[in-house]
Amino acid sequence: MPREGPGVTTSRIVVGISGASGALYARGLVRALVGLGREVHLTASAPGLRLLHDELGMEGLDAGALAGLPEGADPRDHGVFVHPWRDIGASIASGSFLHDGMAVIPCSGNTLGAIAAGLGENLLTRAAQVCLKERRPLVLVHRESPLTLIDIENMRRVTEAGAIVAPANPGLYFLPTTVEEIVDFVVAKTLDLLRIEHDLAPRWGEGTVRIRSRRGSPER
Ligand SMILES: Cc1cc2nc3c(=O)[nH]c(=O)nc-3n(C[C@H](O)[C@H](O)[C@H](O)COP(=O)(O)O)c2cc1C
Repeated sequence: MPREGPGVTTSRIVVGISGASGALYARGLVRALVGLGREVHLTASAPGLRLLHDELGMEGLDAGALAGLPEGADPRDHGVFVHPWRDIGASIASGSFLHDGMAVIPCSGNTLGAIAAGLGENLLTRAAQVCLKERRPLVLVHRESPLTLIDIENMRRVTEAGAIVAPANPGLYFLPTTVEEIVDFVVAKTLDLLRIEHDLAPRWGEGTVRIRSRRGSPER
């Protein structure tokens, strides 16, 4: 139920996938958002598409597979929309397209640098630039190690401009036993930073609930 005016709730989230290792984080976030009834607008850089292929065996940006939809389902019927990285005129490239925030997950050092420099030459970096100019939440789930001083300076710069750098850096204090649980930890942190309520992972001080399994989601 989109409404008029800046800073309102639209239920839409933009998800950008860049060419850093961690395609599982992107998949986890998309599945969580769809499960929480959010409209998801997806874009991946060209190296991001390669990562989806290398790490998930995906041909192109397969929104159905990312969202865990049954074979043949139209992702748009489930509120998942794909925007090609070259389409610099897509809705998410404009500040007039209202949404509740964007996560770049995973976020490469290259994309971090482009955002820090104010570049918007592909749709992902343009959408991030728009988030900053419209003062909407922008969460960068950075993945690279070790960091150069250039990365650190870029992180400072984007933070000063309003973004949140949230490294893909899972805590182990809930004693995860599966990769899925580790992924859930990072996805849960991303949802928190986007101010989206969820019960994907336990919270310190709120009992000893185990991380909820996502095995119930249809797999492809
Ligand atoms: C298999 C693979 C894994 C990569 N992992 C990372 C990574 O974890 N972090 C990173 O900053 N770059 C990583 N890279 C390099 C980036 O993909 C490369 O710098 C690319 O230009 C990033 O472009 P983008 O920011 O437009 O997606 C990886 C590349 C490949 C092929």
